[in-house]
Amino acid sequence: MKKILITGGAGFIGSHVVRLFVQKYPQYTIVNLDKLTYAGNLENLKDIEHHTNYIFEKVDIVDANAIDTLFEKYKFDSVIHLAAESHVDRSILNPLEFIMTNVVGTVNLLNAAKKCWHDDFSGKLFYHVSTDEVYGSLGETGLFTEETAYDPRSPYSASKASSDHFVRAYENTYHLPVVISNCSNNYGAFQFPEKLIPLFINNIKNNKPLPVYGKGDYTRDWLFVEDHATAIDTIFHNGKLGETYNIGGFNEWQNIDLIKLLCAIMDKKLNREKGSSEQLITYVKDRPGHDKRYAIDASKLNKELGWKPSLQFEEGLEKTVDWYLQNETWLHHVTSGEYQNYYKHQYELS
Ligand code: NAD
Ligand code: TYD
Repeated sequence: MKKILITGGAGFIGSHVVRLFVQKYPQYTIVNLDKLTYAGNLENLKDIEHHTNYIFEKVDIVDANAIDTLFEKYKFDSVIHLAAESHVDRSILNPLEFIMTNVVGTVNLLNAAKKCWHDDFSGKLFYHVSTDEVYGSLGETGLFTEETAYDPRSPYSASKASSDHFVRAYENTYHLPVVISNCSNNYGAFQFPEKLIPLFINNIKNNKPLPVYGKGDYTRDWLFVEDHATAIDTIFHNGKLGETYNIGGFNEWQNIDLIKLLCAIMDKKLNREKGSSEQLITYVKDRPGHDKRYAIDASKLNKELGWKPSLQFEEGLEKTVDWYLQNETWLHHVTSGEYQNYYKHQYELS
């Protein structure tokens, strides 16, 4: 029996984590806290919302009183913290929002947990979900390990790095039981179409230009989101307190190669002439401060806890394309309204 608070459960990764925990652990109570920003959508959890071990609470983590009240109400014994502002381009437009949610929001949760647990930490856990972007940018070679020094370079990664530091500071100063994981780029169902893969799937479907930043020679390391969720499950249950675990699939792709693979899959799925989606590729002004390369060494997680990813990238990408093509209503709902303004500002007005 556990009462777990999962924050950001209506978002992309959070919804997969909530689904996994609700289905796999009927003996746990899962409380999903989410503010439902543009990126949070309860449609992501329709299939599990009627489970008796699932509860949703609409709360903003920046509101310290609301967080304290929630801890008093449920007396959680663990927290899996995913709520965040998560898109680099938006962080360049509005850094303060990232500081509020990612830094102040995280500290509010740490304070509430510490207060609620009355400094008796047996059986308690604060699990903070972070990103490989805190490590900065790699050159042609090398991988991020858990020992790599932090070197965040965008407002997003600076805010995540700051939140990681606060989590470690609470461990060192108050002995709060914490664990942190830093994962590479995720892809899969329910990802908001502002991030590379769902944005480009949606644009190809609608015959819209594919805005490739710079020369497209940036490298990212991609992991299927359901594999991230199983890694979180593994670390939550078996990770050592105070440790950091890198999560990744040893799966580096230069953007332009990934985009060409995606175009080929889309041509096949949409019965379009071979090569037609590639014609939509449009090189646009680069992202300011664009990190060159991310690549994760996830061997600690494999060696110590036995976790490994379940599928190959090509298979995962095809599954992802199928999901977006089969879920037009979802895509339509999330791309109407505010999305149109963001798209105009980011890609058409600049
Ligand atoms: P997302 O943007 O899809 O979802 C974020 C969720 O947090 C949304 O449901 C949103 O409503 C909620 N939220 C935002 N501000 C809030 C606030 N003030 N109070 C309460 N809820 C709030 O993000 P994601 O891609 O699912 O990322 C989840 C976590 O994983 C983040 O912490 C992110 O830094 C981390 N991460 C993401 C990736 C990736 O590739 N997407 C990779 C590694 C780590
Ligand atoms: P993104 O999905 O935003 O993830 P992150 O920046 O957190 O790694 O972007 C992945 C890569 O794709 C990154 O190098 C930026 C690039 N990109 C484009 O070229 N065009 C786009 O429109 C977007 C959103 C991203």
